[in-house]
Amino acid sequence: MAIERTLSILKPDATRRNLTGKINARFEEAGLRIIAQRRILMSEAIAGQFYAVHRERPFFKDLVSFMTSGPVVVQVLEGENAVAKNREIMGATNPANAAPGTIRKDFAESIEANSVHGSDSLENAAIEVAFFFATSEIVA
Ligand code: PPS
Repeated sequence: MAIERTLSILKPDATRRNLTGKINARFEEAGLRIIAQRRILMSEAIAGQFYAVHRERPFFKDLVSFMTSGPVVVQVLEGENAVAKNREIMGATNPANAAPGTIRKDFAESIEANSVHGSDSLENAAIEVAFFFATSEIVA
């Protein structure tokens, strides 16, 4: 299986409840390595640009508002099949539909405050990783 990289974001509901370590442990226990990590406060401009693909969706304003409401941790995860593996560990977008043992089932508060973001394809992962990190900041 191919070694891939994916972008992960620990969302404001996760940092607010001091869940950074607990969520990172889920990644590491699943064999993913955190090869870059930074805690930031996203501006509206940055969040709007990052989520531009959702601009026409009814929840876009709420999503940007939530993602700028507190600190987030942006990170690059690396491992075998990392994109799909991370999506599996995260669980469904809506925690009500998330499988037992997933991050969102165990930690998410709602479809908005759902604790984590993960790239949805290898192609988007490359774009999203480059959005937040310079090559020199990623140390595998
Ligand atoms: S996904 O995972 O991209 O397939 O999910 P999707 O349903 O397309 O949602 C895209 C992102 O929007 C967030 N979302 C919402 N935010 C606020 N309110 C509502 N109702 C809502 N519905 C979806 C969802 O958490 C996804 O965020 P990211 O950061 O991409 O996980």
